[in-house]
Amino acid sequence: MTTLQCMTERYTTTAELCDFIEKSPTQFHAVENMKNELIQNGFKELDERKHWIIERGGSYFIIRNSSALIAFRVPPADFAGYSIVSAHTDSPAFKIKTEPEISDAGLYTTLNTEVYGGLLMAPWFDRPLSIAGRVYVRTGNKIEERLIDFSRPVALIPNLAIHMNRKVNEENGYRAQKDMLPLIAEGFDKGQFGKAIQQLARCTERELLEYELFLYPYTKASIWGLGNEFFSAPRIDDLMCAYTAFRALLAAESKDYMPLITLFDNEETGSGTKQGALSDFLPTVIERIAFSLSFNAEEKAMKNASSFMISADNCHAMHPNYMEKCDPTNRARMNGGVCIKFSAAQKYTTDAESASYLRALMDEHEIAYQYFVNHSDIPGGSTLGNLSAQKLSIPTVDIGAAQLAMHSPYETAGARDTETLSKLFTCFLRR
Ligand code: CO
Repeated sequence: MTTLQCMTERYTTTAELCDFIEKSPTQFHAVENMKNELIQNGFKELDERKHWIIERGGSYFIIRNSSALIAFRVPPADFAGYSIVSAHTDSPAFKIKTEPEISDAGLYTTLNTEVYGGLLMAPWFDRPLSIAGRVYVRTGNKIEERLIDFSRPVALIPNLAIHMNRKVNEENGYRAQKDMLPLIAEGFDKGQFGKAIQQLARCTERELLEYELFLYPYTKASIWGLGNEFFSAPRIDDLMCAYTAFRALLAAESKDYMPLITLFDNEETGSGTKQGALSDFLPTVIERIAFSLSFNAEEKAMKNASSFMISADNCHAMHPNYMEKCDPTNRARMNGGVCIKFSAAQKYTTDAESASYLRALMDEHEIAYQYFVNHSDIPGGSTLGNLSAQKLSIPTVDIGAAQLAMHSPYETAGARDTETLSKLFTCFLRR
């Protein structure tokens, strides 16, 4: 039975998001699933290596590195600028190293891994884990990318028994190389992990070139609480924003502005890759749209200056057991609506002007909102908006849903907030 079937009718978008998360264990799968749906909805894929023909009234998308995606609908007539929503596809996880098999005195096999992003380690213990990602396979004289997913529990990071570590509940300084390696088999049969990968990728040992694989929690999403007001799932940061923005684009009609979503990879490691928010991905696509639609330099600059971006990434809800960790006057709560994020240092791009524009839009459409500001003594994490603004400088506002346990393998957010985000993106991309 799917999560969707278990769900009450109240939070359809949340149930759909849970299904999307379950079938998207890595950024590669998330982008692949969106790609399939875009094609079904009449979007055409553009290849960065080829000539682009962009027609007015057409819908297009571009994928970079199989993990970042930009999609847009071209208005039928001239348009004033771009309405952009950005989010990210990646989430913290354990990435499997090359030559990963470790023999544990020949009794077991564990896998060598490293940490991707700033993850919370403790909740990864004693949880069924699976493995997914992409592999590169040699086929004749070509090299082909294939996505793989074990789609069943194959690994687990076992806790050390309390009897062997009496102080574990007082000191929990987990070390990635010592404490966090997943157990995958009894005995040690060198090459068995490679064989399992080859089987999933339907290739021989010789054909298998390289891989990028991640552990992911093999855990169903759940919608819970006495009134079903919360939901928990892996990768809510930032698939909650990425997915709702994606759905809004599918439903968008373009008129005065071109609706565009840009979903970057590698936000969790600082965005500094060719598919990250610091790359030339978005500016290059905007440049090529302008070129293809024959805008001159002035028209191009005018359109960029008339654009607006919503940078969407979740933020921290007030934790019931750690109320002192949040700002004393701006306590964001789950189901409190869209969080407008402010930072004096401009780690969030929001300023009075961009926030006022967004508030006016939300007031007009009766969309609930609240504020998020970090506690002054607790610096928050980074996000996309101020990074992509360095590459394409347009007025931007940082927003997100308030969630708990960010970067845990099982995060928690408000079920009503998925609907609220959806409504905001839909109204914004239709403006
Ligand atoms: Co995030």
